[in-house]
This record gives sequence, C-alpha cells and structure tokens, in this order.
Amino acid sequence: MFMPVATQASLKGLTPGQLARTGCNLCLNNTYHLGLKPGQETLEKIGGAHVLQGWNGNILTDSGGFQMVSLLKLAKVTEEGVRFLSPHEDGVPMLLTPEHSISLQNTIGSDIIMQLDDVIATTSPDTERMKEAMERSIRWLDRCIAAHKKPETQNLFCIIQGGLDLKMRKVCCEEMARRDTPGVAIGGLSGGEDKVSYCQVVNACTSWLPQNKPRYVMGVGYPEDLLVSVALGADMFDCVWPTRTARFGNAIVSTGTLNLRHASFANDFTTIEADCTCPCCRPEDQGGLNITRAYAHHVASKETAGAHLLTMHNVHYLLSLMGKVRAAIIEDRYPEFLHAYFRKAYGGDMT
Ligand code: GUN
Ligand code: ZN
Repeated sequence: MFMPVATQASLKGLTPGQLARTGCNLCLNNTYHLGLKPGQETLEKIGGAHVLQGWNGNILTDSGGFQMVSLLKLAKVTEEGVRFLSPHEDGVPMLLTPEHSISLQNTIGSDIIMQLDDVIATTSPDTERMKEAMERSIRWLDRCIAAHKKPETQNLFCIIQGGLDLKMRKVCCEEMARRDTPGVAIGGLSGGEDKVSYCQVVNACTSWLPQNKPRYVMGVGYPEDLLVSVALGADMFDCVWPTRTARFGNAIVSTGTLNLRHASFANDFTTIEADCTCPCCRPEDQGGLNITRAYAHHVASKETAGAHLLTMHNVHYLLSLMGKVRAAIIEDRYPEFLHAYFRKAYGGDMT
C-alpha cells in the first residue's frame, strides 16, 4: 500500500472528504509537527489526531527525529534524544527523546506509531557514525517499547538502519526482529543513493525480516520504485512526491508525468488520463468532474483549484496502482504486470 503524507494533519491541497474520495484509508502525519502545533495539551483535549482532522480512516505517525534532522540544520543527536531549537518559540532549546516521541504519539492516537530512530544519510562516508546510529536505534527501540502505553490499540513499528552496509543491516534486522514489533520499517533510504544499492538493501532486509509482518520502506513514492520494491518483498510506502509535484502542475500518468503548465495542453480537451477513475477525471454521469487537460492547464499555474485537482488525481493514481499490484499478486501474475507497466512507461523490449 501507498500512504500519502499529511504532515500537519492535512494533506496539502485536499480536505479530508476529498482525500477519502481518492480511495485513501491510511495517511501519514508527523509527530514533530503535531507536537509543536497544536501541541500535546490541545491534542489531549480534543481526543487525538483523528478527531482533530475529521478523518475516519487510519493514521500512521512518523516519530519526529528524521524530520528534525532533515529540516533543522541545528538538530543534534545524543544518546538521550534529538536536541533542537524550536522554530515556533524563538529558538527555545527542546529535546525529543524516545519516551517523549511515544508519549506524543499515544496522545495523537495514530493507528501505527514509529520508533524514534537515529538516521544518517546513506551517502555518508562515516562508517563509525553509521554503526553508532544503527546500534542507538536498537537501544531507542527498547526505550520506545518500554514507554508505549497503548500497545493494544496502537501498533509500534521498528525502523531498520545501517546505511548501505549489508552487514550492519543484517545485525539490525536480527536484533529488531527479536523485539517482535507488529511491523517493520526499512529506514535511511531514498536519500540520493544509486538504485542498485537501494535494491540490494531492500532485497537483503526483506530476506532477513519476518514474512508475516508488514515491511514498510520509508520515503518511497515514484511508481517504478514502488513496483520494484514490491517485487523485492516490501509492502508499505509513503512519500510527499505525488502531492508536492501536483502543486508544481505535474500529473502522474502511466507513461510518466505531464506538466500541465505547458502551453501544448491549452487546447487539449481530453482528460488527464483516459480511463482514470479519480474524482477529477471521471465522467460526470459517474459522479466525477470530467476535468480536461485544457482546464487543468488553465488553473495549474495561478489557481489553488489546479493544485487540488492534480493532488486528487496523483494520490488516486498511486492508490489505484497499488490496488492493481495487490490484484496481480493475489492472481499470481505479478512479473507479467511489472513488465507490462515498464513496457508502457519506457517502451522497448523488457527482458
Ligand atoms: N522517513 C524517510 N526515511 C526515514 C527514516 O529512516 N526514519 C524515519 N523516522 N522517517 C523516515
Ligand atoms: Zn485522474
């Protein structure tokens, strides 16, 4: 499955109702952002993030450390946790520990919660720091498990680290699998490493991880990457790309992406993709808006409506793609499905 990202308890460009109409029933929120605003006290009062955003589907929250380290240059990781200067309170120093992250996620009430992990870019040459981050992530997992107050209703996932080093990844997989969390994430990827290294890590980790638990590769969202990662044994993905690229006027289609800001679409009265069943492309007699490329072009650069429409189309595209993936797996024809997809996207003979 693919999970769209609603960082601040709202998917940029969509209302919760519109998000539901794309077929989404699990979206991602961030602990770091919700912990700062509206803050734990307000979340406690209102009864969690589902009520806050009027969302009847499920929610997964990322633990916060990765967002701080990637967003704030000043974040500093120690054994205690991640120390950073609050962007909301004039740089007041704050500390996110494994215990604090879990407490926030317990208050948020998300259905899947993530451990706090120590994330280093896969492209970092510092092997010692990578080893420290991998081992610290195991110790932090133990602290998260001990701090978790609602294991009956909230599923805690561990996050495998270890960069591109397969020996480190193996140690991490073995140690974390022994902790027997309900699901497992493979972290630290999708940070600029080459595709061969990416595939080696996903392939190796899935071979060492339990078969009967969801395996979630964090931060992946290009259609090709989803399809190849599924072939390598991964089950769950999230990424901001489909929603972000929509705001730049790009629509995901089976042959790649279309930039609807391009003048060539000004007089194109077809829908974004033929046979697309998203709320934007679907014919009016089937409850859709029957939006043409010409209209999307007209609103893509200057109106927020353009971003809303393309966001709906893009989220629906990836959710519907994953639905086809599941059907192909169940009907035991996934290799054929994968080849057909790549042949259509890139042409030529796939061997
Ligand atoms: N999002 C993308 N990659 C990661 C990761 O390695 N850890 C966490 N917590 N979130 C991520
Ligand atoms: Zn569409």
